[in-house]
Amino acid sequence: MYIVCFLNPKGGSGKSTLAACLASGLAEASESVIAIDTDPQGTLTDWQASDPENPIPLVQIEKPNNLKTLQDLAATYGWAVIDGAGRTEEMTGALIRLADLAITPVVPSAFDLWATNDLVEAIQERQEITGGQPQARFLVSRAGVHTRLGQEVVAAAADLGLPLMGSRIHQRQAYPRTTGEGRTPLTGNDPSAKHEIRGLTREVIELVQGGQ
Ligand SMILES: Nc1ncnc2c1ncn2[C@@H]1O[C@H](COP(=O)(O)OP(=O)(O)OP(=O)(O)O)[C@@H](O)[C@H]1O
Ligand SMILES: [Mg+2]
Repeated sequence: MYIVCFLNPKGGSGKSTLAACLASGLAEASESVIAIDTDPQGTLTDWQASDPENPIPLVQIEKPNNLKTLQDLAATYGWAVIDGAGRTEEMTGALIRLADLAITPVVPSAFDLWATNDLVEAIQERQEITGGQPQARFLVSRAGVHTRLGQEVVAAAADLGLPLMGSRIHQRQAYPRTTGEGRTPLTGNDPSAKHEIRGLTREVIELVQGGQ
């Protein structure tokens, strides 16, 4: 089972939204996927529960020790998409040890990138021990539509030493509108949002399967 985690201690960067979208994108691509909510806020759990026809199975795991149950899920699911607990350091550390791919969504501002310094260091320490696991990327999230990515954002990512994903997620009404009903833009009517989720899904599959 491939494990993809969305991690960023900063609130509001889009972790829960992206976990819902990636899980749904993988399901659309005929991958078997389970969503894991490690955040005591329970946003992803609420998302999944708010549509009775939501096809994504989900489990809540709030204690790092309970992540062991992921082993049991590996026989059933090809992918686990995990919404990382924002501020819980112990859980974040445990997820870094488990993940195949750690994605840190960031709004496109150098301040917000710099604020991920401790997280990036924790990921890089783990990579040194393991020879590169987990793979890790920044994902620009909530970017202004028609706004070019600022050079300062690219420079901050380079300074921190984590590559930026080629995919980019923009600030679009389609995200809160659909996720608020337990769905994602994949079943909505904004083709641009659909397109970027499918692109993200493809990039994740390529990164994870190419990294094996
Ligand atoms: N691409 C987007 N376009 C528009 N709104 C978005 C987008 N991504 C997220 N949002 C909105 O921004 C807010 C924060 O997003 P989300 O809850 O996914 O962030 P988070 O990183 O999980 O936050 P927390 O750390 O509090 O769990 C939500 O209201 C969400 O609907
Ligand atoms: Mg969240």
